[in-house]
Amino acid sequence: MSNTYALITGASQGLGKAFVLELAKRNIHTILVSLPGEGLEFVAAQVKALGLEAHCYETDLTQKENIVALAAWVNERFPLSILINNAGCGGTQSFQDVSVDYLDRIIQLNVKATSLLIHQLLPNLLERSQAYVLNVGSVAAYSPIGYKTVYPASKAFIHSFTRGLYQEFAGTNVFFSVVNPGPMMTNMDSSARLQQQGFLAKMGLLTPEQVAAIAVRQLFKRDTLIMLNWVNRLTWVLLKFLPVYIRLPLLTKAMKKELKRTA
Ligand SMILES: NC(=O)c1ccc[n+]([C@@H]2O[C@H](COP(=O)([O-])OP(=O)(O)OC[C@H]3O[C@@H](n4cnc5c(N)ncnc54)[C@H](OP(=O)(O)O)[C@@H]3O)[C@@H](O)[C@H]2O)c1
Repeated sequence: MSNTYALITGASQGLGKAFVLELAKRNIHTILVSLPGEGLEFVAAQVKALGLEAHCYETDLTQKENIVALAAWVNERFPLSILINNAGCGGTQSFQDVSVDYLDRIIQLNVKATSLLIHQLLPNLLERSQAYVLNVGSVAAYSPIGYKTVYPASKAFIHSFTRGLYQEFAGTNVFFSVVNPGPMMTNMDSSARLQQQGFLAKMGLLTPEQVAAIAVRQLFKRDTLIMLNWVNRLTWVLLKFLPVYIRLPLLTKAMKKELKRTA
């Protein structure tokens, strides 16, 4: 895949950075996207040291015009084969306490940016003999959860949206896949939350590097709903079959506890 280009959003840190380095191991050139001034060049330097291309594009993906401009820039310059929509945000907060900007950012980044970027890059992807789109959801996609505000709903959107695209483009050269990771120690917020959890919550915990390696491997095996390990699969099965009237109060209670602990 020496002439293959992949675009990864949220590539400056966490899971996005792990995706960049995993693709570099497979000799794939990368286009790294993230907010301005967050050290994208440091990640790019690691890729370039391996003799591969790494192109940085700093922008705020919550703005429609930025998404359109990014796609136009990519479409003019690179034959794109892989798109990984990884940038995403969320948190545990009481709905009435959060600002309107907090809610807006989650919806714009998780829902709008993912949808519009795929739409704008699709003509480029369709020109390749084989192309892949991987969307990063979360296990939160499998159930509504109080105190997570719009995050689980945004990830349920990503899950449902990707499944629909997979079927719609089944007869084409563009393959769509979704991965729904459980908690990972990426940023300070998720690491602090995980460290306070008990043994059960830490069971089957994967590093961002492990998640990226498994997800990329399964993407190339044309796995459309990627299960990362047995815990990830068990979570999916449990949340799929447990009635909502049981899981919703249980998960909401756990989030309320978490909020109290971190307050
Ligand atoms: N961490 C977890 O426990 C967990 C669990 C399940 C699913 N996930 C999902 O996995 C994905 C990656 O999570 P993570 O924990 O690695 O996240 P992270 O460490 O917070 O990194 C998020 C990345 O997205 C970028 N980003 C944020 N806002 C952006 C914007 N407006 N425009 C462009 N880029 C923006 C950030 O760029 P800057 O560095 O420039 O801010 C950063 O590179 C997300 O979709 C998340 O929902 C995470």
